[in-house]
Amino acid sequence: MVGQCAQHKPFGPLLLIHLCLLHPGASEKPHPTPRLPAEEAEPLQGIRGRSVELACGSGPAPLVVLWSFTPLGSVVPRPVAVTDGVTFKVEPGASALGIVSLQNSSLVMRELREGARGHFLCQALHASDDQLHTTYSYFTLAVLVPVSKPQVRLSDASPVEGASVMATCTVREGTEPVTFAWQHQAPQGPGEVLVGVKEPMLWLDPVNRTHLGWYMCSARNAVSGLSSDRVFLDVVYGPDKPVVTVEPLGLTEEGFWASEKEEVTLSCLAASNPPSHYVWLCDDTQVHTGPTYVIARASRAHAGLYTCLARNSYLDTRSQTSVQLTIYYPPAGQPSCAVLPAPAAVTLLCTWPGGLPTAQLQWEGPYGPGPTFPSNATWTLTAIGLPNGSVFTCVGQHPALALPALCRATLWEPPQSPTCRTTATVGDQFILLSCEWPGGAPPATLSWFDAQGRPLGGSSHSQAFHMLRAWGKLAGREFTCRGSHPLRIPDVQCQLQLEAPQLTVAEPRVSVLEGGEAWLECALHGGTPPIQLLWLGPQGQQVEQSTSKFVLHSEGAQLRLQIQDADPAHHRGTYQCVAHNAVDNSSRSVLLEVLSERVAGLCGYPVPPNVTISRLTYRRHRREVQLQWAIQGPGNLTGFLVQQRASVPGPGAGAWETAASDIEPESRDRQLGGLDPGVLYAFRILALNHRTTGHPSEVKTPVDPPFSAYPAVLGAAGTGMVVATLASLLVFQYAARHPQVFPRMEMPTSTPSSDPTPESTDDPVNVTITVTATP
Ligand SMILES: *[C@@H]1O[C@H](CO)[C@@H](O)[C@H](O)[C@H]1NC(C)=O
Ligand SMILES: *[C@@H]1O[C@H](CO)[C@@H](O)[C@H](O)[C@H]1NC(C)=O
Ligand SMILES: *[C@@H]1O[C@H](CO)[C@@H](O)[C@H](O)[C@H]1NC(C)=O
Ligand SMILES: *[C@@H]1O[C@H](CO)[C@@H](O)[C@H](O)[C@H]1NC(C)=O
Ligand SMILES: *[C@@H]1O[C@H](CO)[C@@H](O)[C@H](O)[C@H]1NC(C)=O
Ligand SMILES: *[C@@H]1O[C@H](CO)[C@@H](O)[C@H](O)[C@H]1NC(C)=O
Ligand SMILES: *[C@@H]1O[C@H](CO)[C@@H](O)[C@H](O)[C@H]1NC(C)=O
Repeated sequence: MVGQCAQHKPFGPLLLIHLCLLHPGASEKPHPTPRLPAEEAEPLQGIRGRSVELACGSGPAPLVVLWSFTPLGSVVPRPVAVTDGVTFKVEPGASALGIVSLQNSSLVMRELREGARGHFLCQALHASDDQLHTTYSYFTLAVLVPVSKPQVRLSDASPVEGASVMATCTVREGTEPVTFAWQHQAPQGPGEVLVGVKEPMLWLDPVNRTHLGWYMCSARNAVSGLSSDRVFLDVVYGPDKPVVTVEPLGLTEEGFWASEKEEVTLSCLAASNPPSHYVWLCDDTQVHTGPTYVIARASRAHAGLYTCLARNSYLDTRSQTSVQLTIYYPPAGQPSCAVLPAPAAVTLLCTWPGGLPTAQLQWEGPYGPGPTFPSNATWTLTAIGLPNGSVFTCVGQHPALALPALCRATLWEPPQSPTCRTTATVGDQFILLSCEWPGGAPPATLSWFDAQGRPLGGSSHSQAFHMLRAWGKLAGREFTCRGSHPLRIPDVQCQLQLEAPQLTVAEPRVSVLEGGEAWLECALHGGTPPIQLLWLGPQGQQVEQSTSKFVLHSEGAQLRLQIQDADPAHHRGTYQCVAHNAVDNSSRSVLLEVLSERVAGLCGYPVPPNVTISRLTYRRHRREVQLQWAIQGPGNLTGFLVQQRASVPGPGAGAWETAASDIEPESRDRQLGGLDPGVLYAFRILALNHRTTGHPSEVKTPVDPPFSAYPAVLGAAGTGMVVATLASLLVFQYAARHPQVFPRMEMPTSTPSSDPTPESTDDPVNVTITVTATP
């Protein structure tokens, strides 16, 4: 810095200099308008410890230069240094200003000291044009002091949030004005942030957690600026109310939800300095220590109220938050779909009960989706225009399922149309009208109507029944079954009319020759089924297949009765063909005549001749008889018929049985066997002309043949001697014990016969009788 030197003509070189030193202001008076030093003049500025140079004018070197100094606040100038251009002298007291030297006429002060504050005057003596003149240069020097390193002090390095904290920034020295700036760096903050305070005092009142961190203060003056070291403000706070989060995140109105079987992480965070200690409770039971509680596989038992407790151990303060954890699980199985008929519409039913929460069900059809319902979706929609086979899908959504569950319902129309039928029940007391139209989804709706269109009972699905009491006048009544299905427009129906059975017989009068075969034919021509068809015999009894000589032939709507070997005694009469259903009975009668020759005369074969029995004798111990006969009178014959009858009480007594029928017309005798010797039989014989029988002969019982052996034996027993073997004695004993076997042994009455009775070969005992006649 070079001072501004006023120049004017010198007056008296050294003397004046001296004077100037003593009265610097007065020396200028003689000179016109010298530039006077004034307080208003801009001061030169030096900095403590640095150098400053004050130049004393310019131009040719002066002869003599004198520097003087008046300290600030003083009026007495003091010499500092003087030079004559060759040598210079520095006043020793000038060391208070720094290290002072002169360089040519300039005053140089190194390591400037604060004592150099004041006014400097340079008086220079010049010689020019043989004249001496002086110049004065007047300086005011200010010495500036750089600021020292500031220091920060905190009124409390670890305040509790809410307290009042003051940070103070101090500098030991430094030329005013000194300005301050505060900087704050949060521990995890982005960097230093300028606090908008320019004072050396920083009030944090109340202090809060955002104030935590490093503080630094900077001080600056015109010369320099310095920053303090960092100071940490550790604000103690918390714990705040904990914040609980659940991963994976599911929110409910009450709290959180998680799916069954998945891993669930509960995290707790409560702002606190120093950091919180955490404890987890589930329904007041401690389950975990630490900020994060992991449930590896959630089950329904894990649902509950979870509480996170946070504690600041420094302050011994606590806070807590509770959350409700709900475990979601889907309903069991799959949704189930059903289709129900509704008037002119269909009702689609989808149910999927259970689950937490309940599943959301929605129908989707060919024309778009229907509304959504929980658990149970019932959607009624008109089916007009829907094609057969339209598919509707019920979509079940549940938060615990990644994919929806489905069920399907297909609308289809039952094929064909309803069929009407009648059934009789409980012995024809009731008639059941049944109507069927199977298939379809939904099933068809069927109802019965009478002829006047009045509904009979309600409607039902796929099948409809109506029961009628059979004793009404039902014949001719009409009934209609109407079937409706949402996909079938218009409705379809079937009809039936109740009718009594209608019968015809082939011939109302049938004749058959005795022994011949008759056919009675009956045919059914209509009537409400089921119809029972049967034949009643002449006595009104039902003709059964099992009855001998009756055979029933049932072919379609025909029932034919075959009567074999017609017998006038048993078969003639009025037969009835009867048909009955639940509506009514009907019958037709057929008269059967069984004609014999005697009755029929011309119609049959002529009656054969009369026969008489000429001989009837026992043979073979009454186990056989020998029959001989003769014919009497005219007549053709084709054979004979022998009949026998047991004439004593016993099995089979009284009824004629055929003993032989295959007798040639030329034969006149016959042996008949198989008789019981203990039974008395009667016999008769008839001539046959084909099937026409003649008059039976007279009835005869057999007689013993004339036989000589027995009387000879018995006579010998009485008059002579009988030699009998042991075997013959046994025969007699046997005969005595079984008189029925030999009933007439003691009483032979018949005369001896010439019949050579051979020895019986089938007797159980071999008998040898030896007769010795006495002379
Ligand atoms: C002093 O003056 C002489 C002559 O005028 C000059 O040569 C020299 O450089 C000056 N010294 C300084 C330090 O100005
Ligand atoms: C902390 O204090 C500052 C000012 O002092 C204020 O702006 C801020 O909102 C406070 N923060 C809290 C969390 O109280
Ligand atoms: C379906 O829900 C209806 C009411 O919306 C109810 O009347 C019906 O009983 C429910 N059905 C089933 C099977 O839950
Ligand atoms: C409707 O379709 C079903 C098959 O999906 C079929 O069985 C039925 O006969 C059809 N109905 C009509 C009336 O065509
Ligand atoms: C029809 O016949 C049965 C016996 O076969 C009888 O019980 C019933 O009363 C008869 N019904 C009428 C209407 O004659
Ligand atoms: C055959 O016998 C019956 C009675 O037994 C008799 O009426 C009839 O006249 C006899 N016929 C002849 C041709 O003798
Ligand atoms: C017996 O039958 C023959 C032929 O079969 C017949 O010519 C004859 O006239 C018949 N006699 C009597 C008496 O009917």
